[in-house]
Amino acid sequence: MSHLIDNTPSTPGKLKPDKSPYIHNRFRIHSSSFSKLTLWCLFFIAFILFFFFLSLLSTTATTPSSAAASNRRSLGSTWGGSAWEKRVTKSSRRATASNRAVLVTGAAGFVGMHVSLALKRRGDGVLGLDNFNRYYDLNLKLARQRLLERAGVFVVDGDINDAALLRKLFDVVPFTHVMHLAAQAGVRYAMQNPASYVHSNIAGFVNLLEACRSANPQPAIVWASSSSVYGLNSKVPFSEKDRTDQPASLYAATKKAGEEIAHTYNHIHGLSITGLRFFTVYGPWGRPDMAYFFFTKDILKGKQISIFQDPDRGTVARDFTYIDDIVKGCLRALDTAKKSTGSGGKKKGPAQLRIFNLGNTSPVPVSELVTILEKLLKVKAKRKMVPMPRNGDVRFTHANISLAYRELGYRPTTDLETGLKKFVRWYLDFYPGSKKKSAW
Ligand SMILES: *[C@@H]1O[C@H](CO)[C@@H](O)[C@H](O)[C@H]1NC(C)=O
Repeated sequence: MSHLIDNTPSTPGKLKPDKSPYIHNRFRIHSSSFSKLTLWCLFFIAFILFFFFLSLLSTTATTPSSAAASNRRSLGSTWGGSAWEKRVTKSSRRATASNRAVLVTGAAGFVGMHVSLALKRRGDGVLGLDNFNRYYDLNLKLARQRLLERAGVFVVDGDINDAALLRKLFDVVPFTHVMHLAAQAGVRYAMQNPASYVHSNIAGFVNLLEACRSANPQPAIVWASSSSVYGLNSKVPFSEKDRTDQPASLYAATKKAGEEIAHTYNHIHGLSITGLRFFTVYGPWGRPDMAYFFFTKDILKGKQISIFQDPDRGTVARDFTYIDDIVKGCLRALDTAKKSTGSGGKKKGPAQLRIFNLGNTSPVPVSELVTILEKLLKVKAKRKMVPMPRNGDVRFTHANISLAYRELGYRPTTDLETGLKKFVRWYLDFYPGSKKKSAW
């Protein structure tokens, strides 16, 4: 969402002086009705410009620092002030037994919320950060935020692209760790809005790494990459040693870029960085853009669902991984992360750089996912098998997790049916009434 806002200021200013005199002159030669139309257009543009500058003026007038104000305005968030700082400090305060203060980006997101709760529960200081964009239902994000708020986790409303905000946060709290889960997710949406992937997953990530490398002390970073980096690979299970240079979507390409960017910040600035390649994470409070979620919604509504079939006739399969298993993996990655080595601006030695698969090691065909949902919802699905479109999805994913097991002690314990049962219970509770019409 915020990339749209970023673009707004430059457009009206550019349009008027360059193009309108030309259009005006040319059209006057041919017809007077055209020139009337042009005049009205000009009038309209002037009208918009007037209100645009009016809004600019009013923002700068009400805030003390105009640089910070314009920054905040363009990113669509508000932060600062002593009451705000108090909340930041309080949320980041750790219980006496813990020595960790963790900044969690994307805290109002699916994985972000669960990880924040788990960290807070065990006594770590936790501060959330989220830009609350409208990629999916804002109400779900706000409900997650309320849950965090009740647990004592403050979620700052701000963007990882806001350098001044990040500097401020590191000024106020000497974070020991950053759990970076903010991202533009989804493979299909990249066809509609490629810029938002670059904005969040590349520009935003770089901005965050810049804040981390300048922070003193430097935090250790754990961040979410994706199983999609394996792209068109056909050798299964996917291992961290396999090639990852054939992404099938822009989403995958930006995650792969993130892994390379992580390498440079580790190499140059001594940041300790751990990337986690998540495999189709699902569960309560999940993302509405994912198949298990919207299948549930559509099955309950009696709406037809499309199941992708691959050209060789098998249905698409996914290594579905339950949220609690992912959370354990994230916490283990955090606990085994070594300190960064470049605090104070000079790298003092090699720093840790790791990549792990976090999957479930048992891919399930999507048709079987639907069968489990039918059973749990007690509603028959209207299935439609469709050939897989070439819009970013891959045929299957399957994780080799022996490295995460060895280094992190990561061992997933939730099978798909058990996990979906918990998801469905949450779904029916969160969306009461979704079942009424279609239940048998
Ligand atoms: C999984 O990866 C490890 C190396 O991390 C390798 O030794 C093992 O053979 C792989 N397992 C399979 C089933 O490919």
